[in-house]
Amino acid sequence: MMSRFTIPRDIFYGTGSMKELGKLTGYKRAFIVTDRVIPKLGFLFELNDILISAGMETKVYTGVESDPDITAVMEGAHLMQEFQPDLIVAIGGGSSIDAAKAMWIFYEHPAITFDEILKNGTPPLRKKAHLAAIPSTSGTGSEVTSFVVISDHANKMKYPIADYDLTPDIAVLDANVAMTMPKRLAAYTGMDALCHAIEAYVATNRNNFTNPLAIHAITVLLGYLPPAYDGDVEAKQEVHIAQCMAGMSFTNAGLGITHSLAHKIGGTFGTPHGLCNAILMPYVMRYNAKDHMAIRHYARISDRLSLEGQREMNMLNSLIRAVKDLAAYMELPSCFKDAGIPEEDFLANKAEVAHNALLDSCTPTNPRQPTEEDLLRIFECAYYGNPITF
Ligand SMILES: NC(=O)c1ccc[n+]([C@@H]2O[C@H](COP(=O)([O-])OP(=O)(O)OC[C@H]3O[C@@H](n4cnc5c(N)ncnc54)[C@H](O)[C@@H]3O)[C@@H](O)[C@H]2O)c1
Ligand SMILES: [Zn+2]
Repeated sequence: MMSRFTIPRDIFYGTGSMKELGKLTGYKRAFIVTDRVIPKLGFLFELNDILISAGMETKVYTGVESDPDITAVMEGAHLMQEFQPDLIVAIGGGSSIDAAKAMWIFYEHPAITFDEILKNGTPPLRKKAHLAAIPSTSGTGSEVTSFVVISDHANKMKYPIADYDLTPDIAVLDANVAMTMPKRLAAYTGMDALCHAIEAYVATNRNNFTNPLAIHAITVLLGYLPPAYDGDVEAKQEVHIAQCMAGMSFTNAGLGITHSLAHKIGGTFGTPHGLCNAILMPYVMRYNAKDHMAIRHYARISDRLSLEGQREMNMLNSLIRAVKDLAAYMELPSCFKDAGIPEEDFLANKAEVAHNALLDSCTPTNPRQPTEEDLLRIFECAYYGNPITF
């Protein structure tokens, strides 16, 4: 079997590393993609000055909304056509980075449609521009991944698209940019990162490169997320690096049905992505543990964390307990009912969520292949807070 491991060519890291972009040569026109919040935090102006100091002309697009919609993507791509950048720089959370990746496709291939991309995959990129990504949340790992999550708000759908060509060329891990995250955002995005690492460690495409990245990320995140949540600067820096390692792992190993369900629940009810994962993770781990390889891999994580337990089942229980305790420490709800999804909305949409989750591109790499009925039952348990028994 042939396999591939792809990450960005350059990763600049450490406090103040955004300045490294000032040393880039060979680029003339930089198009910056971000949302409305980042300019208020001051980083946009700093980035703009750095790119100008490297001899580039710049243009800024601040129209990205959370969970970027296809219409905003088309708007940004249109502005790129006018400006003709040879470098695209995304700064912001996963939404800004994903929006920039999607705009990049339409900039390089103006005639393509979203449906064609969903059906036939992403066409080759880099004829017109390269992509640099600077995450401002410690979370999605999008700065190193081949994934893009685009929403179609009109149809209440969220589509992950995966293609190695979408992996950015440059990632900048400047923890300064993520220091301003409010506590709740730090909790959501931190749990998203933990979920990436745990799902990657049990995914069907796990391999010798992705496993150590996942294990290290899990260890750091479980240890440092509580102090990072409490405002410890060093802990926040550790988390910022670990979420990137989780990204490197999952982009090459694949994810699982926590993400399949999270994409559809987020698309339908607007629940933040990281919160969806934080709630779903313990339920999905319990479901996956019926697969004899998955429970072995969960037990291995537990062993590496020196959690208590001799037998695989006890080790699994310890790991699930550690994930639940972490979520509780960061004051996150443990079921979707408590997260504020009204019961009538849940009842009206649950079948469609399960149906669409089965078709999600993260489902095939889950260690236990679910039926639509399984996904429906997992969602029901995660809505009411009932135990998984199947
Ligand atoms: N491409 C991937 O590999 C991948 C992986 C996981 C999730 N995602 C997607 O990423 C999106 C979620 O991204 P996210 O969780 O990073 O959130 P986000 O980008 O949607 O940002 C959430 C909010 O936080 C604000 N914000 C961002 N950084 C901040 C900072 N430093 N200080 C203060 N406020 C800040 C933003 O302006 C926004 O209002 C979802 O659409 C999800 O599906 C993508
Ligand atoms: Zn995620």
